[in-house]
Amino acid sequence: MDLPALEALPLERGALVLVRVDYNVPLRDGKVEDDLRITTAVPTIKWLLERHARVVTCGHLGRPKGTVDPQFSMAPVAARLAELLGVEVPLAPAVVGPDVEDVVASLDAGGVVMLENLRFEPGETENDPGFATNLADLADCYVNEAFGASHRAHASIVGPPRVLPSAGGRLLVHEVEVLGRLLDSPRRPFVAILGGAKVSDKLGVIRALLDRCDTILVGGAMAFTFLSARGGKIGSSLVEPEMIDECRDLLGNDRIHLPVDMVIAERMSDDAETRIVPADAIPDGWSGFDVGPETAALYADEIAEAATVLWNGPMGVFEIKPFAAGTRAVADAVASCHGFTVVGGGDSAAAIRELGLADAVDHVSTGGGASLELLEHGDLPGLRALRESRPTS
Ligand code: 3PG
Ligand code: MG
Repeated sequence: MDLPALEALPLERGALVLVRVDYNVPLRDGKVEDDLRITTAVPTIKWLLERHARVVTCGHLGRPKGTVDPQFSMAPVAARLAELLGVEVPLAPAVVGPDVEDVVASLDAGGVVMLENLRFEPGETENDPGFATNLADLADCYVNEAFGASHRAHASIVGPPRVLPSAGGRLLVHEVEVLGRLLDSPRRPFVAILGGAKVSDKLGVIRALLDRCDTILVGGAMAFTFLSARGGKIGSSLVEPEMIDECRDLLGNDRIHLPVDMVIAERMSDDAETRIVPADAIPDGWSGFDVGPETAALYADEIAEAATVLWNGPMGVFEIKPFAAGTRAVADAVASCHGFTVVGGGDSAAAIRELGLADAVDHVSTGGGASLELLEHGDLPGLRALRESRPTS
């Protein structure tokens, strides 16, 4: 996919560059808990600073509903970025407005500032043209380095490229290249492992992958809607009844593999009594919270043989110890696979990082929803906006 490159931006000394980042990161005790999305955007920012640009970063954090909500302030993110860059990163007092314009105007060449959470403004998610203009007016050029948010047609993603010379950041371009390889020329066998809670989030990508993959291994709570569609007894496990018909249609396809056993419990807790039962024979009052050991072993065998692997979504409630083994087994298998391995989605990316296995996979995507939508549709609103952006000369 041809995206406008950083090198083509008209960067005079002191040019103001608005960089949309995806710094939607988990926080704990007021600090950034996982900084993958911050570290991976650093090369683009450094590249701009080395060219004496003035960089205005903007991103969202959580889902504040168009009003200022201090728990979603970008302050911890600005602090982490400052540590990584080794320069001060002042946080503007708002997203747009005269005070922000003053802060931006006082930036020196080679300096960085961060705007407050874009979603403090209702115009961001509403894709309000007036808000987009206010953002674009802050800068001379625009860079989209927010791959993980590029499936959202929000003001900061699609607005500025209409009026400013624009480019894709290093991370965004790399993400699109890697995921594009999965779409265009995957080496076979291509095994996709899909987990997570909701099958409704994944049906589109399952359909798209069925044309390209040899095997789709299903785990997580989304497996129960499939198991239920096949007539299995799933006890009190999570299910999406309105998706059962669609799942039944898909099951005609023998590339989709379902769990054969489950770790079940009456409660989702650390000290819950657990049992392992066949996946389609879960007693009433019990719920499946992880795939069982036989499933984990079968899935690991499939993964070991793969030449291309895509993993999105955990196999169980891996944050809770008795239900972590399935996800761990898949993570180990993906890490030791000799094929080209890609992990995407907040939870599976977090799992692989927590297990210390991130270096053993070829690519950990910073996009969850974005990577799935790119695989499903072959394009994203943010990428389209860049391709259609104002020519730089
Ligand atoms: C993400 O974390 O997936 C992106 O930052 C998008 O966030 P959103 O799902 O709240 O739009
Ligand atoms: Mg490998």
